[in-house]
Amino acid sequence: MSILEISELVVARGAGIVLQGLTVEVANNEIAAILGPNGAGKTTLLETIVGLHRPQSGHVVFDGDDITGAKPHQIAARGIRLVPEGRRLFSGLTVGENLRIGAEGAGLKEWRWVLEIFPQLQKLLGSRGGTLSGGEQQMVAIGRALVAKPRLMILDEPSWGLAPLLVDDVLTAVENIRQLGTTIVLVEQNVEAALKIAGQAHILADGKIQRSLGHDEAIARPEFLREAYLGAPIAPA
Ligand SMILES: Nc1ncnc2c1ncn2[C@@H]1O[C@H](COP(=O)(O)OP(=O)(O)O)[C@@H](O)[C@H]1O
Ligand SMILES: [Mg+2]
Repeated sequence: MSILEISELVVARGAGIVLQGLTVEVANNEIAAILGPNGAGKTTLLETIVGLHRPQSGHVVFDGDDITGAKPHQIAARGIRLVPEGRRLFSGLTVGENLRIGAEGAGLKEWRWVLEIFPQLQKLLGSRGGTLSGGEQQMVAIGRALVAKPRLMILDEPSWGLAPLLVDDVLTAVENIRQLGTTIVLVEQNVEAALKIAGQAHILADGKIQRSLGHDEAIARPEFLREAYLGAPIAPA
């Protein structure tokens, strides 16, 4: 069953139309990877889901309810969290404080359980966000969303700028979060790494989803990767 249904979404930014009638469905408790070239509109799509852009037309339906045009706090209250591009921690606050704020934002008190997903953060609880490495910051950013116990977690290029070993660590954590029962929408430039954990992979180019493939087919077809990176013209399947 689809928990997220996006249909015919049209979104403009500045003078240009970025999403031109985009349609995609995400099944409950799957990881849906959104792949595509720079500037394709991946971030715009994620920000529209969480209410940061108002679509010109089309619909976003979450768990059967039309949330198109709802305010960001209303969408957050439904259990949707975005981990934005570039992480954006509270750099003056400690790791523990960042995590506590994430839980409190959802009216929850407990946050220490997140250390089971990110045990590396245990020894950093008293460190300020601004002093952490890129990989550590990303774990805190994901952890801060996770402690809100979201039903849908949306991640915008979580492996951006990370060393190759850390890319796999972060994406393994994403799969572990899915196993806790969370549905995931994942934008990634590291296509091979994303395909390892994605149940479905969708190519976004020219303002629309050009192709959607299940896990096995996506891995078996190298030309799919090329399309994802380059946004090349798509031949009929
Ligand atoms: N702040 C902005 N103001 C106006 N246009 C923007 C802005 N940010 C992005 N855009 C436009 O939206 C397009 C899609 O951007 P974005 O969603 O960030 O793509 P992606 O995440 O796939 O790289 C860009 O090509 C650019 O033309
Ligand atoms: Mg982006």
